[in-house]
Amino acid sequence: MVHLEYISFEHNAEAAAWISRVYDTPPLAFVHSYGCQQNVNDGERIKGVLLDIGYGLCDKPEDADLILFNTCAVREHAEQRVFGNVGALKGLKEKKPGLMIGLCGCMANQKQVVEKLRRSYPYVDLVFGVDGIDTLPQLICQRLQKHKRVLLDPAQRPVIVENIPIRRESEFRAWLPIMYGCDNFCTYCIVPYVRGREKSRRPADILAEFEGLVRAGYKEITLLGQNVNSYGKGLEPAVDFSDLLNMLCAVPGDYHIRFMTSHPKDASRKLIDTIAAQPKLCKHLHLPVQCGSDRLLAQMNRHYTVEQYLDLIEYARRTVPGITFSSDIIVGFPGETEEDFVQTLELVEKVGYMQLFTFIYSKREGTKAALMPDPTTRKEKTDRMERLLRTQDAIAMKLVADQVGQTVRVLVEGYGRAEGTLSGRLDNNLTVEFTADGSLIGQYAQVKLTGARATVLLGELA
Ligand code: 5AD
Ligand code: SF4
Repeated sequence: MVHLEYISFEHNAEAAAWISRVYDTPPLAFVHSYGCQQNVNDGERIKGVLLDIGYGLCDKPEDADLILFNTCAVREHAEQRVFGNVGALKGLKEKKPGLMIGLCGCMANQKQVVEKLRRSYPYVDLVFGVDGIDTLPQLICQRLQKHKRVLLDPAQRPVIVENIPIRRESEFRAWLPIMYGCDNFCTYCIVPYVRGREKSRRPADILAEFEGLVRAGYKEITLLGQNVNSYGKGLEPAVDFSDLLNMLCAVPGDYHIRFMTSHPKDASRKLIDTIAAQPKLCKHLHLPVQCGSDRLLAQMNRHYTVEQYLDLIEYARRTVPGITFSSDIIVGFPGETEEDFVQTLELVEKVGYMQLFTFIYSKREGTKAALMPDPTTRKEKTDRMERLLRTQDAIAMKLVADQVGQTVRVLVEGYGRAEGTLSGRLDNNLTVEFTADGSLIGQYAQVKLTGARATVLLGELA
């Protein structure tokens, strides 16, 4: 693995010069990110790079000189939405020929997508994949100089570029990637194909960014990776995810740490012991199980059984009192039978998740599952989904109601739904609404939990 530094001046002097030659006033960019937090964080870096070369940012595509869609490829529906949104820009481009339209992120790392854009979307000017953010100034520069479209074919770069400028969306919650890519090849998932092999950032680079965030007053720092528990593969000297957590927790300051995602096959007892020992780590584990049938787990290439998964949950409950869990579930994986699905419902009941992220299986060309027979009808799948949601609602409402009476520390994130209220998040990831004035946003507050509205807690300042 090659670790590179983003050197602002070298990269950008030429681009900045071209931009000031082409535009009388600083051009505006509209950047929209779809999908997971990793992608949102990439979007923040894209904005940072654009600001660095002289762009301003805007909230409306109509105002923009550059529109960039930072896309997600995990499910087909998201891809269709992007094509729809790109298609809708045709008229705008006709009215404003100087408008530059770009597409980047996971979709741009699929060959057939780039081909489709090349063929059927002649007004798309720029296409680059997930590893291309640091090269954006050169791509823009090329587009401005040559009056030719710059559509890059998908390619994976075995490099990590550090210190790419960033414009974060929040002043108190930050995303911090610790690794990129995925080596797991779950059979339904496109991520390993579009994001490439796992690459871990060096501990010193992560620590430097982390310390910068703490110094800047960030309260919640979420460490990101497709599979954080395999952090460190290939690094010298050897370091694992728990070691990294311990190193970060030693940084003094008023903050807490979350992380995602943990793959159950690699979530170790050592990790759980670390959560127990470090008060700065939230007592919440996002541990996607995907389904409750051993037969399907094997078909999904997940490398654990329901029993192993439950053992881990049990160990965590024993070791970290009060810990809560959330999970991802796929309904309607190819060949899922009623019996498989009932096993998923049983597992969900057994664990008692605070939160579930549920997805109907989406076929992704190029993955192994796309070749598996999938006779279950759409109607059966949506019926199962409804049953799952009903089951989970009942579980979550009970768990939420059980919290009432406690006084807890929350990070105040914004305004609540009811007039005059604020919304905050507990250590365990639940949301609470309480009456207070907006000056608390971005701060910690002590809140007494007095009731609940469905799965949202209600409280008052303690
Ligand atoms: N169809 C449906 N859900 C998927 N996920 C990943 N790939 C697919 C797919 N093809 C879900 C998994 C994963 C989450 C991020 O997205 O549950 O954990
Ligand atoms: Fe996809 Fe599995 Fe990797 Fe997660 S661990 S990104 S579900 S292949």
